[in-house]
Amino acid sequence: MATINDNYLKLKAGYLFPEIARRVNAFAEANPSASIIRLGIGDVTEPLPAACRTAMIKAVEEMGDRATFKGYGPEQGYAWLREKIATHDFQARGCEVDASEIFISDGSKCDTGNILDIFGDDNTIAVTDPVYPVYVDTNVMAGHTGVANDRGEYEGLVYLPITADNNFTATIPSQPVDLIYLCFPNNPTGSTASREHLQAWVDYARANGSILFFDAAYEAFITDPVIPHSIYEIEGARECAIEFRSFSKNAGFTGTRCALTVVPKTLTAKAMDGSNVELWKLWNRRQSTKFNGVSYIVQRGAEAVYSPEGQSQTRALVNFYMENARIIREQLTAAGLAVYGGVNAPYVWIKTPDGLSSWDFFDKLLHTCHVVGTPGSGFGAAGEGYFRISAFNSRENVEAAMKRITQTFTG
Ligand code: MLT
Repeated sequence: MATINDNYLKLKAGYLFPEIARRVNAFAEANPSASIIRLGIGDVTEPLPAACRTAMIKAVEEMGDRATFKGYGPEQGYAWLREKIATHDFQARGCEVDASEIFISDGSKCDTGNILDIFGDDNTIAVTDPVYPVYVDTNVMAGHTGVANDRGEYEGLVYLPITADNNFTATIPSQPVDLIYLCFPNNPTGSTASREHLQAWVDYARANGSILFFDAAYEAFITDPVIPHSIYEIEGARECAIEFRSFSKNAGFTGTRCALTVVPKTLTAKAMDGSNVELWKLWNRRQSTKFNGVSYIVQRGAEAVYSPEGQSQTRALVNFYMENARIIREQLTAAGLAVYGGVNAPYVWIKTPDGLSSWDFFDKLLHTCHVVGTPGSGFGAAGEGYFRISAFNSRENVEAAMKRITQTFTG
């Protein structure tokens, strides 16, 4: 008889966002007239930039003509897109990243999970707490952990708490860990990392032979010019870091799907026989075997982000969401809540009032304001007592949600 991957049975109830959707749907069914505003999942609401749409329409036409039709593309992505990314996103910031080190994919969520394919099962893994749940759950699925305790912490993972006390940036661990997930600007807390903080991580990783998984999906939201956008702005990062980036949030591609992962050719890790093996070769082998690339049409849409029109349209999109973030921050602060993030990131992280648990606050907001956010405890034990509000929504919805919340908490 067939057997299952028992590691799946260790996973907690459900992935956070489907669990929220389940609760919201139950509330909506019981209260059909409630106008619910969803500021939970970080999903974009505004239309795709015109430059991307025009490029995709042209690409569709090309697919309709035998002379310009495309079948399978390169598994790593088309060179014209990889070169634009290398030039605009990395070399323009002084980062030494070659187009051949960039792998186009259908999402950072997939890549941050899939990357585990090329690493051994005996690595010690560190995550911040709270953390994007995908990093934890994919390690559980891969059998890299034991079972979860009452607080939802999995045996075998090293949790690095990030709270208001350490400015939501983890203290470098005292013990050696092999794989470390860092996300800056941070999901869920909206915090950022200074150059010095990132240099400390790079120095630690190089001293311990560790690899940093640097998730920069929200780099476009950085407004402060001194904050690094890429880990490769940090000296030595090419020897210890893989970076994940996405078109989801800056160009509204959450439903269109396009992202990228950078694996420098200078990056190695140990094989069982003690030899150093280039991770680029393994990731290239993995992608060539398990992935057939992102559609030509979508890659043309992503390429248009780098045209002058695409650059100004994506900037406008980012500014639009950051104005939402500013409104959320100001209104919630005025309502007397302790508010973090939302300055260089599209997430606002709040301390729940009156000692409410994260899920109790979720229920209160849903039932009294008909507003959905994300309970901090869903991102990890140290997120208990916090709550995340996403700035990804229409201005009208953000303003209406803030009005409802401020009325509830001030009045
Ligand atoms: C979130 O809400 O944390 C994001 O939507 C997650 C994601 O990008 O997958």
